[in-house]
Amino acid sequence: MDTTSSQTKRVVSGMRPTGKLHLGHYHGVLKNWVEMQREYECFFFVADWHALTTHYNDTSNIANSVEDMLIDWLAAGIDPSAATLFVQSAVPEHAELHLLLSMITPLSWLERVPTFKDQQKKLKERDLSTYGFLGYPLLQSADILLYKADAVPVGEDQVAHIELTREVARRFNHLYGREPNFEQNAETAIKKMGKKNARQYRNYRQAYQQNGDTEALAIAQAFLAGQQNISLGDKERLFGYLEGIGKIILPEPQAVLTKASKMPGLDGQKMSKSYGNTIALTEDATEVERKIRTMPTDTQRVRLTDPGDPDRCPVWQLHEIYSDEEVKTWASEGCRTAGIGCIDCKRPVIDAVQKELDPIRERANDYKNDRQQLKAILQEGSESAREIARETLEDVIEAMRFV
Ligand code: TRP
Ligand code: SF4
Repeated sequence: MDTTSSQTKRVVSGMRPTGKLHLGHYHGVLKNWVEMQREYECFFFVADWHALTTHYNDTSNIANSVEDMLIDWLAAGIDPSAATLFVQSAVPEHAELHLLLSMITPLSWLERVPTFKDQQKKLKERDLSTYGFLGYPLLQSADILLYKADAVPVGEDQVAHIELTREVARRFNHLYGREPNFEQNAETAIKKMGKKNARQYRNYRQAYQQNGDTEALAIAQAFLAGQQNISLGDKERLFGYLEGIGKIILPEPQAVLTKASKMPGLDGQKMSKSYGNTIALTEDATEVERKIRTMPTDTQRVRLTDPGDPDRCPVWQLHEIYSDEEVKTWASEGCRTAGIGCIDCKRPVIDAVQKELDPIRERANDYKNDRQQLKAILQEGSESAREIARETLEDVIEAMRFV
């Protein structure tokens, strides 16, 4: 549901600064962001406060990691003139909204988020029985609601956090969306659309409220989103009035699942820092060559004359990502007939990875040598983000009659 005033949907996403990004991040997330930045109004931020929820006892790396992460984003093709890039802690409104939302969020909602218990089990060596860690997903909700995002691109593991965000938004709207003269204001707003539009709106509303016609609701929402001559506040009233609820102050975002592109690592497991099977985005060329050359292959192919089976080989999984049909046929036939050696087979993969990384490494290098520019990008991004964040907070505070 698009409840913001502009036609362009707004997208918000964040990443915790956890060290150098690798090809898994690139294929799983960053390529997606690069595509989205042209089509949507995008806000991408480094979630440094989120890093604190699990790494509060050693904060020495966070600041450096923030800058490294920004470099990797830019190197991957995120364009600061297309997307707003910033650091969470530079926009204190995230903390302010988090605090306000914490007042209305039942503990049980946080306790039942799957990542809460999972992570506590997985990261046994850390004491994660903290207030901040329990609140992790609520801080994420604040990150998203602060920008009234329509869509949040995330991986499967984050869907529960978006679901929580929707519940919190719904609760907030329910509790505070009832301004004193709501019905009267809504009726006035309807008239501002002009006679014809007003009639249409009323018909859709009636179809939905009297007959439960959800199609009429969807049409009406699209119709409202396209209205040019009413204010954002009136629009929010009319979205709420349509559904028979109060004013929608915090719209519910949708999770957009990144296409399950599981980037295989050097050992065939999912590429992940914790498995030590990664190729960093800024890995230098000789290191990339070495890492792929020493990758394990089909263990049953001991001698060059033994035929192999690509299905038992992690190199084959990289062919699936990087090679066209012709190369794949060559590799798989050559493997099964012992017609090629494993080093031959790896050659096109090495070349393809190098080709992908060349421009990324080059851009990373340029940015690394221009700290001034990195600072400027973040400064500008944080300022634009803050402007919007402040507007939302003012709506929130007003709705809570807290002025
Ligand atoms: N929790 C996310 C992760 O671990 C990072 C994150 C923080 C985020 N705030 C967000 C993602 C807001 C999307 C939107 O990957
Ligand atoms: Fe793997 Fe290729 Fe060697 Fe076959 S030839 S085992 S697919 S590296």
